[in-house]
Amino acid sequence: MFELTQDKVHDERRQGEAFAPLSAYDASQKKFYIESYGCAMNFADSEVVASILIDKGFGVTQNSEQADLIFLNTCSIREKAELTVRKRLTEFRRLKKEKPGLLVGVLGCMAERLKSKFIEEEKLVDLVVGPDAYRSLPTLIEEAETGQKGVNVLLSREETYADISPIRLNSNGVTAFVSIMRGCNNMCSFCVVPFTRGRERSRDADSIIKECKELFANGYREVTLLGQNVDSYSWIDENNNEKVSFAILMERVAKISPLLRVRFSTSHPKDITDEVLFTIKKYDNICNNIHLPVQSGSTRILQMMNRTYTREWYISKINRIREIIPGCGLSTDMISGFCTETEEDHKETLSLMEYCEYDLAYMYYYSERPGTLAERKYKDDVPEEIKKTRLKEVIALHRIQSLTSMQKQVGKIARVLIEGNSKKSDAHWAGRSDINKVVVFPKANNDLSKGSYADVLITKCTAGTLLGKIKED
Ligand code: SAM
Ligand code: SF4
Ligand code: F3S
Repeated sequence: MFELTQDKVHDERRQGEAFAPLSAYDASQKKFYIESYGCAMNFADSEVVASILIDKGFGVTQNSEQADLIFLNTCSIREKAELTVRKRLTEFRRLKKEKPGLLVGVLGCMAERLKSKFIEEEKLVDLVVGPDAYRSLPTLIEEAETGQKGVNVLLSREETYADISPIRLNSNGVTAFVSIMRGCNNMCSFCVVPFTRGRERSRDADSIIKECKELFANGYREVTLLGQNVDSYSWIDENNNEKVSFAILMERVAKISPLLRVRFSTSHPKDITDEVLFTIKKYDNICNNIHLPVQSGSTRILQMMNRTYTREWYISKINRIREIIPGCGLSTDMISGFCTETEEDHKETLSLMEYCEYDLAYMYYYSERPGTLAERKYKDDVPEEIKKTRLKEVIALHRIQSLTSMQKQVGKIARVLIEGNSKKSDAHWAGRSDINKVVVFPKANNDLSKGSYADVLITKCTAGTLLGKIKED
């Protein structure tokens, strides 16, 4: 199917493999295989699921053919995301025939959205478990083994899985996601997330710090604090009777070690505060990089989207970021062809992009989602061809801008956290700079390794990669 999004779309990638240290399981036990779709939060949730199952004695496999349980952790954000999962499910039909007793479970946002309807529509599915119900998986599996289909899609106002130590899946051993909150209270009219993830709730700050400290002790050097709206993080520390805001939390994580990098995603433009910006500025190990999705450059469309800010207000936020953190990396999400969008609205989106000069953008065309405010209130009246044409224009502009943003790095020194060998050559290291650019450079005769920092002089670039050499003293 033709898909008009940029090449590497962050929230529709597929995790084909999952693994844990061999010592974590007994090969004679039942094994599960898990594949994740959607946003980083879903990938982080799969690590919670792995922890719950391994704790109950299950093993994990990276090969679906060898699994006794197959899980798809699904995404509902656009119709395309759901179709991808449905197609993947059909590929398990053969396995199910060959291996009676094989259980197939659907987790995540699609499970939450479709509930037991999923089992009616997809006969091979045995389990449907929503994002707040993963603790019930072992019980549901036990029931499913007796032939009963299991559904638990209860949403919770409290669940944060704070006490569960995620089992890192597909990890490079250097960077990790850490969930700091769940759910979303914003009601962007196009978005299904408030319905699939429920009310916003923040995780106990002490458990977050504990997880980050453990990661650091295990050699990890970067954590990305995750939430749909991290700037509304709020938790009461009863020991000190202190309200922990996102800025305070980030500061606490940054203080674990100057060698632990801190990133975060996602910020809602209405919630990111000066306190957050000054905290980023204060700590060298908090990366100068902000994902601040705008969605549209037209105030009229933003209002219909219920984003609660205008074009001008967003621009003033960008100006403030650039004033406090000069050179800060900026990324965004864009939706083309939202209900009633005119050519003029679209031009405003293009001109806003020109002003903001994003380093990175995730770009989509509008996909109406059942049950959302937009579906109930507005007609999805921009013809698909026009949505796609506008999206193409948005992508074309972004390609030019992101190349310019890469070129601007040439001649500068980037502090790179090494994540491993470059994909193309074992003679090169690959990592990311503070502002989230991929940097590749030759290994020299020195004691650098995965997880080390290197100061790299950027000598040239491609559209996606900065190339350089280790800075000489
Ligand atoms: N919480 C984040 C925020 O407020 O920006 C984003 C969450 S959502 C998982 C990621 C992106 O998917 C959104 O920023 C939006 O651009 C896109 N998206 C959400 N619903 C969509 C829809 N119905 N059609 C197309 N894109 C959509
Ligand atoms: Fe969706 Fe808006 Fe919440 Fe982001 S802030 S998850 S776009 S409702
Ligand atoms: Fe998709 Fe759910 Fe994330 S809808 S983008 S997996 S919160």
